[in-house]
Amino acid sequence: MDKLKFAVVGVGRMGSVHAAHLLHGRVRGAELVAVADIASEALEAFSKKPNGVPTFKCYKEMAERVKPDAVIIAVPHYHHISIARFFLERGINVLIEKPISVTTAEADGFNGFLKTLEGVSAAVMYNQRTNPVYKKAKELLDGGAIGEIRRIDFTVTGWYRSQAYYNQGGWRASLSGEGGGVLINQCVHQLDILQWLVGMPDSIYADIATVGRRITTENDVTAVFKYRNGAHCLFSASAHELNGINRIELAGDKGRLVIGERLMKYYFWDKSEPQVNGDTVSGYGSATWHKRVYRYGIRRIADLILGQQIRIVKNFTRHILTGEKLISPADDGISALTLINGIYLSAWEGAEIAVPFDGLRYEKLLKAKAEAEKK
Ligand SMILES: NC(=O)c1ccc[n+]([C@@H]2O[C@H](COP(=O)([O-])OP(=O)(O)OC[C@H]3O[C@@H](n4cnc5c(N)ncnc54)[C@H](O)[C@@H]3O)[C@@H](O)[C@H]2O)c1
Repeated sequence: MDKLKFAVVGVGRMGSVHAAHLLHGRVRGAELVAVADIASEALEAFSKKPNGVPTFKCYKEMAERVKPDAVIIAVPHYHHISIARFFLERGINVLIEKPISVTTAEADGFNGFLKTLEGVSAAVMYNQRTNPVYKKAKELLDGGAIGEIRRIDFTVTGWYRSQAYYNQGGWRASLSGEGGGVLINQCVHQLDILQWLVGMPDSIYADIATVGRRITTENDVTAVFKYRNGAHCLFSASAHELNGINRIELAGDKGRLVIGERLMKYYFWDKSEPQVNGDTVSGYGSATWHKRVYRYGIRRIADLILGQQIRIVKNFTRHILTGEKLISPADDGISALTLINGIYLSAWEGAEIAVPFDGLRYEKLLKAKAEAEKK
């Protein structure tokens, strides 16, 4: 194969960025051969500067006429999986925008379908996995750097959205349009990072609220994830706090990681907490500690301009061309979605939810709430 022929389905905000990267040759080994979008305005905006790339209103016709090798799917979440299935069934590789779907029930069925395929790849756009801070954190945690995790505090309040953002309308911030609010649209990135770093909890207890905005979905979330070893994670997220933050603190029995956007502090002790407890005859105790600071400034202006998403597109391209391991395979997409559906289920039912839970029960509840929202 000379160059991988890419098409983009959905050239709105995100899809047009993917299309521009491919069009301008920023992904080695890839070229843009077509785009599809149901909205004429989106196609007209894409072709404003003539670029010779054919545009289609129907992605099925595009597949037939252009026969791409790979497709990036950047349409609203409810359509991700049906479109992905269409291309995969025809042997065309897909890179699906996040979240993989709106419900774990659909994602679970999709994972079953993926297992039946051969010689065709599917990935999901969890671009924050390419953030060097999180990559280093994963390396440290996988190597046991802080010992057994006992407590996590995760605050995500950096997704500020004003009423004007919601007034743009469309599919955003509605149960019928996207299956939720700040949790499914924005926090899906952080929840993917959380499960990527520490795995899945055994249960979820949560509350959600709408603060200061006229919308039908949440913009404020508090959740407690309980893990098998008894550790808890307190997850707080919102889209209404001015100058918000994005911070994870993971406390283990041998150290602590405090992770900001581009800075990570790693503290580690000479002795683990059980050792200190066993050795100490007085009622108190401590261990000699050390600290390392990792800074990850934007080293290249290109990283700032192009963003993390292009790294996933490059990895996906190399995966198809050379067999490089996928950073974010599509079947991983269900984990962050499980945390999201679990939070909604817990908040709606006012109960602690064991993980995994019945995805169909959630789907039914969501459908009823989306219907009520329309009325
Ligand atoms: N990875 C990231 O950081 C990131 C950032 C923004 C958006 N996204 C994701 O990208 C997806 C799109 O978001 P957006 O902000 O670009 O939305 P958008 O509304 O700006 O664009 C979506 C486009 O899809 C088109 N579309 C809808 N249904 C279609 C269909 N059946 N066939 C073809 N085209 C169709 C619409 O006409 C529109 O042009 C969402 O799933 C979102 O979560 C990801």
